[in-house]
Amino acid sequence: MKYQNILVRMDDPIATITINRPNKLNALNRNTIKELHKAFSKLENDRKILAIIITGSGEKAFVAGADIAEFADFSVKEGKKLAAQGQELLFHFVENLSTPVIAAVNGFALGGGLELAMACHFRVASDNAKMGLPEVSLGVIPGYGGTQRLPQLIGKGRAMEMIMTAGMIGAEKALDYGLVNYVVPQEELLNLCQKLGSKISNNSPVAIGYAIKAVNASFNNSINGFATEINAFGKCFGTDDFKEGTSAFIEKRKADFPGR
Ligand code: COA
Repeated sequence: MKYQNILVRMDDPIATITINRPNKLNALNRNTIKELHKAFSKLENDRKILAIIITGSGEKAFVAGADIAEFADFSVKEGKKLAAQGQELLFHFVENLSTPVIAAVNGFALGGGLELAMACHFRVASDNAKMGLPEVSLGVIPGYGGTQRLPQLIGKGRAMEMIMTAGMIGAEKALDYGLVNYVVPQEELLNLCQKLGSKISNNSPVAIGYAIKAVNASFNNSINGFATEINAFGKCFGTDDFKEGTSAFIEKRKADFPGR
């Protein structure tokens, strides 16, 4: 499929999506969000793809935010729609994929960029990365889940400070906060993400999908996470992946999971 604003590289079992608007620091305009939705849907349905990496093109930015030029003259109604549609099409969508998504944060991850990284299942940063939610400096608040996911990841006090000061933190501080799992030199970023993706791909894709669902449930007040875990755990027993995983262990061989 041809996209205008993103590149998709297939390197089975790992796919890499690169947001490709370097002149606009990869800012997320409406079309980019739609294209990302399409690309993620397609990869989720591709049985050969067992992990997805998302990054930004160029050496400067992962994503410098939602495209400010696009919403500068929006009404109240349009603002609400922008947040609701974006959350549904991209941010909730990514968080709830059963294929693991790793954010390779290769520079500025601001506003919608940090929100996108936070919607991914975990994050790895290059040492030049800078992260922040600067929305209040523009007279608006984070609208793509930032007020919810940032406190989940780093705690309420730190999230409040980052959101209220509109300041940026560097990669080392993000590591200290638990916002990213690793910090590496930029030239090693994709390599490390590929290694992590490859390690993930040795495991049962079906079980990983259920694990994502159960972990996400712990952050959803409207459902019982423990009950979700019990259900998902039980369902695993009916899968071919479980039969293969347990047989391989007993037969002292490497599992070859049939997958989803
Ligand atoms: N939306 C739209 N365009 C953006 C953008 C965004 N969020 N972030 C950067 N750009 C554009 C700039 O307008 C500029 O375009 P131009 O060359 O056509 O004028 C280009 O990307 C390069 O950005 P520039 O500001 O010149 O780079 P810089 O190195 O001086 O500064 C940043 C980098 C990230 C500090 C600065 O671009 C910035 O503050 N961006 C906005 C961040 C933000 O508030 N995001 C939250 C949005 S809700």
